[in-house]
Amino acid sequence: IHDSFKNIAQETHSDFGQQGLKLCLLHSDMDKEDGSVKYVLTGDGAGTVFEIDENSGDIHATRRLDREEKALYTLSAKAVNKTSGQDLEKASEFIIKIHDINDNEPKFAKDTYMAGVSEMSNVGAFVIRVTATDADDEAYGNSAKLVYSILQGQPYFSVEPETGVIRTALPNMIRENREHYQVVIQAKDMAGQMGGLSGTTTVNITLLDVNNSPPRFPHSTYHLSTPESAGIGSPVGRIKAYDADVGENAEMWYSILDGDGQDMFNIITDSTSQEGVITVKKQLDYESKRLYSLRVQVTNTHIDRRFEQLGPFSDTAIVRITITDVDEPPVFSRALYIFEVDEDTPAGSSVGTVSARDPDTINHLVKYTIDRHTDLERLFNIDSNNGTISTLQGLDRETSKWHNISVLATELSKVPVFIKVRDVNDNAPEFAMYYETFVCENVKAGQSLFLLQFHLVPLEAHITHLTLQSATALHYNTARILTRRGSFNRREMSSYLLPVVISDNDYPIQSSTSTLTVRVCACDSRGNVQTCSTEALLLSAGLSTGALVAILLCILILLSNPLTIYSALSKKHFIYHLYALM
Ligand SMILES: *[C@@H]1O[C@H](CO)[C@@H](O)[C@H](O)[C@H]1NC(C)=O
Ligand SMILES: *[C@@H]1O[C@H](CO)[C@@H](O)[C@H](O)[C@H]1NC(C)=O
Repeated sequence: IHDSFKNIAQETHSDFGQQGLKLCLLHSDMDKEDGSVKYVLTGDGAGTVFEIDENSGDIHATRRLDREEKALYTLSAKAVNKTSGQDLEKASEFIIKIHDINDNEPKFAKDTYMAGVSEMSNVGAFVIRVTATDADDEAYGNSAKLVYSILQGQPYFSVEPETGVIRTALPNMIRENREHYQVVIQAKDMAGQMGGLSGTTTVNITLLDVNNSPPRFPHSTYHLSTPESAGIGSPVGRIKAYDADVGENAEMWYSILDGDGQDMFNIITDSTSQEGVITVKKQLDYESKRLYSLRVQVTNTHIDRRFEQLGPFSDTAIVRITITDVDEPPVFSRALYIFEVDEDTPAGSSVGTVSARDPDTINHLVKYTIDRHTDLERLFNIDSNNGTISTLQGLDRETSKWHNISVLATELSKVPVFIKVRDVNDNAPEFAMYYETFVCENVKAGQSLFLLQFHLVPLEAHITHLTLQSATALHYNTARILTRRGSFNRREMSSYLLPVVISDNDYPIQSSTSTLTVRVCACDSRGNVQTCSTEALLLSAGLSTGALVAILLCILILLSNPLTIYSALSKKHFIYHLYALM
């Protein structure tokens, strides 16, 4: 095999994928081209990646060659006698080197990067460096020469083409205006030229807070109030300033600058809620001062000197505190009183006067009494109105030198008491009118005669229940009167007087009575009245009206309930009953 075939640098494009691509030809000087020589290939990829035509010595690639997979193959070839299998010469070694083509795009180490940069940074401030790699051969051509560019994120950010360093590109980017940016960076090989391959990555950039916003009170004045009895240290109220920054840049503390309430109140900072809590510093007294004011300041805890020129990182507000009155017990003019009295002083003499006053604004009268437990012998009396203590008995110094008594002062307060007289059921149901009706002599039993109306108080009523056997639904405050039997005879009884009692079930039960006059009349077959005249009848019978009435009354008493009234009415919770008294 010619030396010239040894160490041959055979280049093939790795995307030449066709099987059987002819790469080179081996030829031995021993080959007389008579078909007796056979070429044999051994080494890297022999028989798999590379094949040799044993007759011609042609070497083929059997599949796609990828430099990035394997760039060099070391092979050896020899010529042997086809028949005897004897080597015709020593094996020759040679190398197949895979030549690179740009078949790999740049790849970033991460699909997404996270980065942060302080708001208000100068233009060109470093944000993050992103790097991509290219699997192609760096030593050969520009296949692996990368150039970075920004696809999204301008004009806020820029990228250095050679290094992939991202920098800020705008001055005065304020987090409070916009906090998050998404930047897309491209890396392109072939030094960024046309036809190069590219890869992209996303960089999520957050502007980091700096203390560029001062705390501000949303109101210039706050109104709080506290009872005068509030204990020292007890909270009066809270005020809160706002700061557009976050974290420690929004931390603040409160202080009192001045004001007439400076000695009476403190302000402390609640670090959790960032509120100023105003507390009582000294005992308050409504009677001596009812309104205080404080000038309160709020200041950032961590001030960034770089931004001080933006203005003061503090704010002030006025807090007005109203003191409210609390009813307090009377107060004596002195803590204790010492009076002296001669032992021979007669009973009824004045010993001295104590005095107490109600400290409240509404100055109630004070009444004085002696605590009887301290004066069991009843030696002293006190004028309940003016506090003058006098003796009730003569005193004997030899029996007792001291009489130590207690005086109680009580404040007389007034409170209005309103007593309302509640309504009870004192209105009786009333009948709506005078009742008179008639009944036909030829009436049938169960026929409706009359609708009785009455007023109940109140009128709001509905049926909940029906008593007796009636199935007739009745309207509010009405009762139906039915005949219990048929066939009335006006000669026997020209009219019935039907007493009606209406009562409610309220408490106490109220009732009223009326009388329904039912006259018996002669009617035609359709129920039209023809005559009800009893006078004619009576006169024809030759009896006086008076006598007849007496008779009728007797009959009336003997009759057993010829008429029945059905009713069961209800007004809210109460049931009204109607009774027919016969
Ligand atoms: C208190 O009242 C009594 C009788 O009402 C009177 O005798 C006495 O002088 C009064 N004392 C004073 C200090 O006004
Ligand atoms: C009463 O008070 C006086 C003066 O404080 C004291 O000297 C005396 O011991 C007291 N007497 C009694 C019985 O408490």
